[in-house]
Amino acid sequence: PTAHVELDRRSVIAPINRRLFGSFVEHLGRCVYDGIYEPGHPTADADGFRRDVVDLVKELGSTTIRYPGGNFVSGFRWEDSVGPRDKRPVRRDLAWHSLETNQVGLDEFARWLKLTGSELMLAVNLGTRGIEAALDLLEYANHPSGTALSDERIANGTPEPHDIRMWCLGNEMDGPWQTGYMTADDYGKLAARTAAAMKMADKDLELVVCGSSGSGMPTFGEWERVVLEHAYDNVDYVSCHAYYQERGGDLGSFLASALDMQYFIDTVVATADHVGDRRKSKKRIMLSFDEWNIWYLDEHQASDEVGDQWRVAPRQLEDVYSVADAVVLGDLLMTLLRNCDRVTAASLAQLVNVIAPIMTEPGGDAWRQTTFFPFSVTSRLARGAALQTRVTSETYETAVHGEAALLDALGTFDDETGTGAVFLVNRSTTESQTVTVDARSLGASRIAEAVTLADADPYAKNTLADQNRVGLAPNASAEIADGVVTVVLPPVSWTALSLA
Ligand code: AHR
Repeated sequence: PTAHVELDRRSVIAPINRRLFGSFVEHLGRCVYDGIYEPGHPTADADGFRRDVVDLVKELGSTTIRYPGGNFVSGFRWEDSVGPRDKRPVRRDLAWHSLETNQVGLDEFARWLKLTGSELMLAVNLGTRGIEAALDLLEYANHPSGTALSDERIANGTPEPHDIRMWCLGNEMDGPWQTGYMTADDYGKLAARTAAAMKMADKDLELVVCGSSGSGMPTFGEWERVVLEHAYDNVDYVSCHAYYQERGGDLGSFLASALDMQYFIDTVVATADHVGDRRKSKKRIMLSFDEWNIWYLDEHQASDEVGDQWRVAPRQLEDVYSVADAVVLGDLLMTLLRNCDRVTAASLAQLVNVIAPIMTEPGGDAWRQTTFFPFSVTSRLARGAALQTRVTSETYETAVHGEAALLDALGTFDDETGTGAVFLVNRSTTESQTVTVDARSLGASRIAEAVTLADADPYAKNTLADQNRVGLAPNASAEIADGVVTVVLPPVSWTALSLA
């Protein structure tokens, strides 16, 4: 097949907020322990942080990091994780049925974030706790000095406040699996009161209220409406969470997963704006897509990896990603960019070992999963603003999402540097596509970079034994003439072009 893409530099969707390239570190499995933190590892620093992992996180280009959960946060007592390490209690984490040693807490994690150059996005526990614990944590984290909890932070070795701007009001409170889960009405009231109290301390905080845990939730849409009826005036973002996987060998449907993400975004925007309009509010709620990824959840649920034992940092949710998974991830990221007028923060869930782009072995290597590549390249190249991108493509029929375009494409342009980028996904499982991109309005005369992720085997993966089986390859077919790019995209592939 052939396809055509038109870019118009003047048709801007919105500036791209760097927070769209966020990620997520949860106290879950080996994400923190044996992931970012492993005292005794040959690359560990004085804090016990693996510097090989820090280097990969920097290369990944993640920005804001959500912490410390996830389902974990709904049973978490933040006080356990600060102060002298030898006095910190070991607690049961009911969410993942494991033991939490609290050897890494807020102050250590904030130091780790500085190494990676990331912003902290902190979640408070609204599952088993409430307003008082949230206010205490806010005082400990952000108050400069001269109060009981800010002085405690200083005594613990952190003289400067963390100055955390983004706060999540609990996690997935619509899910029956959540410790202390609630009805939309109960949660909406609690979130509104917690948000109001937090803003009494600091009116400029950016607060994220829990939306739905997936577009398939029975309460999807209605949950957002009810919660926002309560919390609209006090919050700034509503969260969205979505995970995708191939089911039943239906690769075609899986490759079109971005259509569900688009439906999710459209529905939440419409619902939030409906609530805003009914209130005659000029304020617009933004979307924080603060959990998104590929996750082979069905297989994990069928396994006994979250068993009856109480273990420290067990191997849980350690998905090994294929080329096809990476192509879908690249397409999901393009979908977030396409909606950057309303999705102004997002977190790839998660960062290390747990459904993650980076894997580690205790005492051994750290390496890149297939999904690492589209994320890192997009974070590096998608600068400036996202452009309305007109795609003319053949379509195919999917069992899950109906009709889907064989080609997905998104362009970006950075006025400051005068460079553009185009991201392309070929969803065909069998055929290459020759694509022309009319980029004349960008004023580009050369292709600075053209890389493709593809493989003869769409299920090829990087593993401990074969860490570089899959990687990016230059796309030698890409050429530009009079501002029009021609490029050949192999089946099941993700491509990025940088135009200068
Ligand atoms: O990211 C893994 C889990 O997925 C998170 O803890 C939870 O919020 C979601 O269900």
